[in-house]
Amino acid sequence: MDRANSHAITLAADWLRQGKLVAFPTETVYGLGGDATQPAAVARIFRAKGRPSNHPLIVHLPSAGMLNDWAVDIPQTAWQLAEAFWPGSLTLILPRGRLAADCVTGGLPTVGIRVPSHPVALELLQAFAGGIAAPSANRFGGVSPTSAAHVRGEGFDPAEVMILEGEACEVGLESTIVDLSGKFPAVLRPGAVTAEQIEDVLRLSLAEADEQSPRCSGRLESHYAPRGAVRIVPRKDATTLKTQLRAVLAEELGRVVVIAVPEILATLNDVIPREQQLLSPADTEAYARELYALLREADTRGDVIFIVPPAEIGVGVAIWDRLRKASAPRI
Ligand code: TXA
Ligand code: MG
Repeated sequence: MDRANSHAITLAADWLRQGKLVAFPTETVYGLGGDATQPAAVARIFRAKGRPSNHPLIVHLPSAGMLNDWAVDIPQTAWQLAEAFWPGSLTLILPRGRLAADCVTGGLPTVGIRVPSHPVALELLQAFAGGIAAPSANRFGGVSPTSAAHVRGEGFDPAEVMILEGEACEVGLESTIVDLSGKFPAVLRPGAVTAEQIEDVLRLSLAEADEQSPRCSGRLESHYAPRGAVRIVPRKDATTLKTQLRAVLAEELGRVVVIAVPEILATLNDVIPREQQLLSPADTEAYARELYALLREADTRGDVIFIVPPAEIGVGVAIWDRLRKASAPRI
């Protein structure tokens, strides 16, 4: 572990050149980065994560200026979105270029590219001056890390993985993924950059992602999952929470944790003890930022996690997407 001063950044860039891995903060979640042009480094990422090696990785670049090395036939829409949202939490899927090897794209004809905005991520990318392949720095299928402490908890081998510290991930959810390789742009994974914002910039309506859309591990049914079973309770059904909790307690399905805003938690004091209640922010952006830390904390306190998310609008769409995947039947 290292504080991300300029010395640590230089060291980290050297590690990457040696084919080793660096876990680094981005504004979305922590990434587990390796030199995207070294197949051995990329293989190391898959091994460390326990992820099937045919899943494509996102390549992080220091600026859109390098896009031509990594993608070809870049449509005007890509430049428009890059101009509007980079550096930031948007990943573009484009036809793969000269530097995008099979090991990174999982053999797909396309590549995912993003320029992150977190200062530590940008400094690392500038020092490295190349593409860093980085999935979220968690074991496959688990909850993405939003702090260096979360990454340390994943137990990666310190001889292989250096952890850079940085201010918290401001967004807290993985980037929005837009596929620009098909006939029409389509959102493959919702994030803090919303479909509406993208439509505003492109002045068109986005297509629905369908069966034909490129495969994307974030689109597997069960993903982003904590150990505990997750049950989503829409805000409008919060009044039924007490009954649901009593049912679970009666069935003795395990310890129950509830994640909700204070007004809702206040109604549950006679059903579950305070230490089984986790307070969530009312503001949707703050909610997104804290969601993964809350799920990790809930996992340490209980086996069944009831959660009352904010409305499914704006970044709420991404929150619901991750929670649905977290609550889907486990593979
Ligand atoms: O915010 C983020 O995107 C974070 C930070 C570290 O940048 N990264 C991240 O990576 O979430 P990962 O590997 O956990 O998720 C990347 C998603 C996967 O679902 C993968 O399938 C999809 O992007 N993806 C990557 N390349 C793709 C491609 N060529 N076509 C379709 N999906 C792709
Ligand atoms: Mg991930």
